[in-house]
Amino acid sequence: MSNTTAFQKVTALRGMNDILPGESAQWEALEAMLRQWLSLYGYQNVRTPVLEQTRLFARGIGEVTDIVEKEMYTFSMSADRQELMTMRPEFTAGIVRAAIEHNMLYDRAQRLYTMGPVFRHERPQKGRYRQFHQISVEALGFPGPDVDAEQIIMLARLWKQLGINDIRLELNSLGQLEERRAHREALIAHLEKHKDILDADGQRRMYSNPLRVLDTKNPAMQQMANEAPKLFDFLGTESKAHFDAICQRLDDAGIGYTLNPRLVRGLDYYNLTVFEWVTDRLGAQGTVCGGGRYDGLFELLGGKTAPAIGFAIGLERLLALWQDVAKVQTAAECDVYFVHSDAQSARAAATLAEAARNLGVRCIVHPGSASFKSQFKRADASGARLAVILGESEMAEGKASVKFLRADAQGATAAQFSVAQSELATALTGKLQDQ
Ligand code: HAM
Repeated sequence: MSNTTAFQKVTALRGMNDILPGESAQWEALEAMLRQWLSLYGYQNVRTPVLEQTRLFARGIGEVTDIVEKEMYTFSMSADRQELMTMRPEFTAGIVRAAIEHNMLYDRAQRLYTMGPVFRHERPQKGRYRQFHQISVEALGFPGPDVDAEQIIMLARLWKQLGINDIRLELNSLGQLEERRAHREALIAHLEKHKDILDADGQRRMYSNPLRVLDTKNPAMQQMANEAPKLFDFLGTESKAHFDAICQRLDDAGIGYTLNPRLVRGLDYYNLTVFEWVTDRLGAQGTVCGGGRYDGLFELLGGKTAPAIGFAIGLERLLALWQDVAKVQTAAECDVYFVHSDAQSARAAATLAEAARNLGVRCIVHPGSASFKSQFKRADASGARLAVILGESEMAEGKASVKFLRADAQGATAAQFSVAQSELATALTGKLQDQ
């Protein structure tokens, strides 16, 4: 009788997905296109840690935001719980921290991008996950408005390149601090007037973050939100000129947009330009990309003041929209699959495969022993174009047989041929180039 208790099966955490071969081939194809697209505009890769001090996000993103209030994965770094660390819920704050820490802006502005997983403890649903992936693109040290427009135009290029046409641009300006202050006073007065219809979130944020109260989904509050004073009407000449210059460039590029005065974004670091690209094709989670200017973030995080603008795309959502996604073929596991008949030929196969790999041929040697039939079945499933057969007769003659596993363009399958083992690697490279 066994005294081990059955081990309960382990599954992935809710909202955190495995990306398996096949699907991951689509991810790699998308990532390669994104890198090529970024290089057209001079963006360079940067990589920052997954874990950062909690203070970075609390300060950077803002204490009174959904992300900081309820969505961060936070741990204590020491037993006394004095110091806390958080798994990044976004990239921007970490990139700005790195730019300050390494004095990256001392002689020039920087165009940076990064890709990877970010973490938010949200309620999972289609298009909304707890571990998801972003590509974050940041132009640090640029006052705009030229670069603001360039970022939006580069996004329009990406959608076009990926064949995504049912996506629209929403644009707003959050102005500067003094303008937001004046608007805030007017807004609080408006909220106070309608205090009785505010829900619990609304009541709580009325003084701490009144703009976010307007971002409500509560139907009972919609009319109140629609009638609230609009920040856009509080913008001064300079802020208006910044916004107009962007619109002019978008017009030049033939890019349509909607001015959405209620677009405030879920992070507090923005000023002037904010934008989102939204689609109706993904159901409730239709925001594919969001971004804006954050001229105050460097100073807020203890650095020298520097203007900056950026955006992030949710890669799960982008992949769901990418029309050619189905056309991405699962990459073959290898070019050549080695089958063998006994221990001696298996040993020879291992050595011969190493020699072929030296010439860049991607090889798999069938593991263990099995009938030729089942080895060929596996060879076929691997997607290999050639099989190398090392049977008894081949071994006796110091040769290898090479079999074509795929039909050529005319639909014909060439006969197999035999080659000296010492010549095998070069013969394989030759045949792979011919095909
Ligand atoms: P964000 O709007 O919070 O902005 O996120 C950007 C994008 O990430 C969203 O538009 C969406 O596509 C995707 N996303 C957000 N949450 C989830 C989720 N739970 N599951 C799947 N996808 C999600 C930022 O993060 C800013 N850092 C953008 C930025 C960069 N602003 C300036 N620079």
